[in-house]
Amino acid sequence: MIGRPLTTVEYTNEDTSPWGDLKLIAGTANPGLTERISKEIGVPLTDPRVRRFPDGEIDVKIQDSMRGHDVFLIQPTCYPVNESLMELFILLDALRRASAGRITAVVPYFGYARKERKSQPREPISAKLMANFMTLAGADRVLLLDLHADAIEGFFDVPTDHLTAHKILAAHIRGRHMDRIAVVAPDAGGAKRAEHMARLLGAPLVFVYKRRPEDDAVEILDMAGEVLGRDCVVVEDIISTGGTMVEVATSLREHGARRVIIACTHAVLAPGAVERLRRAPVDEVVVTDSVPIPEEKQGPPITVLSVAPLLAEAIVRVHENRSVSELFR
Ligand code: R5P
Repeated sequence: MIGRPLTTVEYTNEDTSPWGDLKLIAGTANPGLTERISKEIGVPLTDPRVRRFPDGEIDVKIQDSMRGHDVFLIQPTCYPVNESLMELFILLDALRRASAGRITAVVPYFGYARKERKSQPREPISAKLMANFMTLAGADRVLLLDLHADAIEGFFDVPTDHLTAHKILAAHIRGRHMDRIAVVAPDAGGAKRAEHMARLLGAPLVFVYKRRPEDDAVEILDMAGEVLGRDCVVVEDIISTGGTMVEVATSLREHGARRVIIACTHAVLAPGAVERLRRAPVDEVVVTDSVPIPEEKQGPPITVLSVAPLLAEAIVRVHENRSVSELFR
């Protein structure tokens, strides 16, 4: 794990916030990230005492008083997605009933984000439903990271701050001394993401036109932009099966790319994905710890960077009512 602090968190605990003291609490989805955030800010984690009843139901019992405090509840809704979500909802409910002054749900990975619209008749919009549940359960604000689609922010009727890990990924890539970089959007939905990274790296864009005939099958139909002899940085929000990245990397090599680096925020890495990436013609897959990555999945070609310093800085800024957008500039 590489932690490359882009910011220095300055939290003095001399509270002037109208919402009371800053309190950190977390579900069980990503304990590593949670501990790193707590260390960055210098505020200990409150024990939520999460447990399961024999029938699988979730119970929590928050171990400290939350009355009147400014509470940040950290829980990426990653694998096992439904369990993580249910824990988040139940913790929000417990916090609200404990009279927390303000509750911010810190959700570095938003499960169901890829179901943010109906692509066929009679389909759900699950991302909207999850956003509804979060606010219904008690979130007064939400802190998000590299959402699959920006429109999801609008699914919340409470304030949101939408962070990006792009600066962290770009700083790492700059350290790789690449030559004649081209930044690649692996599909139409990723064009804006890639454009942002291209601006950070001062590089031209390449667009890939992808089709997904089945959930686990990807087909590359076309590519626009100059790839021959270039070092390509493919920008992705989520790697799940790894199918998209394998096909895109293979196609880039066939078009004469010199090196291929994948820069992705959320390494969901479904079963088989790491093996697929290890066999793929990629030099490096740079991801973040928004989702926990077990030891055995780390190591070449996967490099994990920590988003803890970024999230910690954002939490302190929200607490102190300071600008969060300054973090992107
Ligand atoms: C889809 O639109 C996303 O941006 C990713 O391209 C997708 O989630 C990648 O999935 P997989 O790794 O299964 O190809």
